[in-house]
Amino acid sequence: MFREAFGIKNKSEISKELAAKAIAQFERIIISKDSKFDRIQQGQAFYTDLELTGFGLYFDDDPDLPDTECGHCHNIPMATSDDF
Ligand code: HEC
Repeated sequence: MFREAFGIKNKSEISKELAAKAIAQFERIIISKDSKFDRIQQGQAFYTDLELTGFGLYFDDDPDLPDTECGHCHNIPMATSDDF
């Protein structure tokens, strides 16, 4: 697929520039405005039980689950604190 996308013939033609373009193209397909998560935050959708368990794990929001600390840096709404 990489060869087809960039019109190259063999692995030796793969450069870091092409790899960066492939990653950038992937990042562009990520829904970041109207995802289910966004709709739930706006009260327009609801988590399944499994998703609720994930939320509880990720945001340390469920006393019956272990804390994962993810939400400290990946906080709502943008999933980042911008604090590298
Ligand atoms: C100490 C801060 C910190 C904690 C805690 C943390 N992360 Fe991250 N995470 C980052 C940073 C910084 C990045 C890279 C920049 C970004 O995507 O915001 C990142 C990137 C990611 C990415 C890639 C995002 C993308 O855009 O491709 C995922 C997925 C992720 N983290 C999941 C998790 C999960 C799951 C947990 C908990 C188990 C977690 N992180 C805990 C700081 C943290």
